[in-house]
Amino acid sequence: MEKASDITEVLKARIDPDRVPRHIAIIMDGNGRWAERQGEHRVVGHANGVRSVREALVACREIGVEHLTLYAFSTENWNRPKAEVDALMDLLVKTVIGELEELNANGVRLHTIGDTASLPESCRATLLDAIAATAKNDRITITLALSYSSRWELVRAAQRIATDVKEGRLDPAAITDETFAAHLATAGMPDPELLIRTSGEQRISNFLLWQIAYAELWFTPVLWPDFRKDHLFQAVLDYQGRERRFGLISEQVTPA
Ligand code: IPE
Ligand code: IPE
Ligand code: MG
Repeated sequence: MEKASDITEVLKARIDPDRVPRHIAIIMDGNGRWAERQGEHRVVGHANGVRSVREALVACREIGVEHLTLYAFSTENWNRPKAEVDALMDLLVKTVIGELEELNANGVRLHTIGDTASLPESCRATLLDAIAATAKNDRITITLALSYSSRWELVRAAQRIATDVKEGRLDPAAITDETFAAHLATAGMPDPELLIRTSGEQRISNFLLWQIAYAELWFTPVLWPDFRKDHLFQAVLDYQGRERRFGLISEQVTPA
C-alpha cells in the first residue's frame, strides 16, 4: 500500500505547473466539531488547526501559488462565547510569534485583511511586528482574514468611494469595477481562482463576496484540523479539470 507521503507526491506530480491558481482562499472550518468528536474542548480543535495552516502554506508554496488567504476569524465570530474568542486571540499571538522564523526562512510575507483595529492590542502589535518583519519576502503572501466579513469590507468601500465623490476627487460616472476593487481590503491582490471550504458546510459565510465572483468552489467533508497537503493538491487538480467559461460558450474558451 502506498504511504500518505507517496500519494501526496503522486498528486503533486499530476498538477499542471502552467495552470496553478495564483490565489487560493480557504474557509478553515470544523475545528470545534473535530475537538468535540474526541470529547475535547473546541479550543483544542483550533490549536490542532495550526498544523493544517502550515500544510496548506507549504503545499501552496511548493506548486507556486502566489497568494493564500485564510478565513481565520469573522466579524460574526465575535459573538461566540468569550472564553473561545479569548483562546483564539491567544492562539493567534502565539502562532504568529512561533512561526515567524519559519515564515522568513521560506520567503513568506504575512498580510491581514479585516477590521484589525478591533483586535486586542497584544494581537495587533504582534501582527504589525510580523507584517513588518516579513514585508520583503516575495515567494508567497499569506493573508489572514481577521475580524473580517465581506459586508464590512463592501460597506467600507462604499463609504470611501462616497467620500472621494463628496470631496470632488471622483466623478460618480467614472466609478468602475476597478475603482471598487481598489477600495477593498484586497486591493492589489488578484481575485482567488479557487475557494476551498472544509467541514462539509457549503456556504460562503460572508467571505470575499466580491472577489469570488468567478472563483471555482471546492468543498470537502474533511474537518480543518485533518486537512493536509494532499487535500490541497486534490483541490488544485479538480480545479484544473474544470472549464472556466466566464459567461462564454465552451468553443470560445477551448477552440477546437
Ligand atoms: C473554524 O472552526 C474556526 C473558526 C471559525 C474560528 P469552527 O470553530 O467554526 O468549528 P465548527 O464549525 O464549530 O466545527
Ligand atoms: C466561517 O466559519 C468563519 C471562519 C472560518 C473564520 P463559521 O463556522 O463561523 O461559519 P458558519 O457559522 O458555519 O456559517
Ligand atoms: Mg464553523
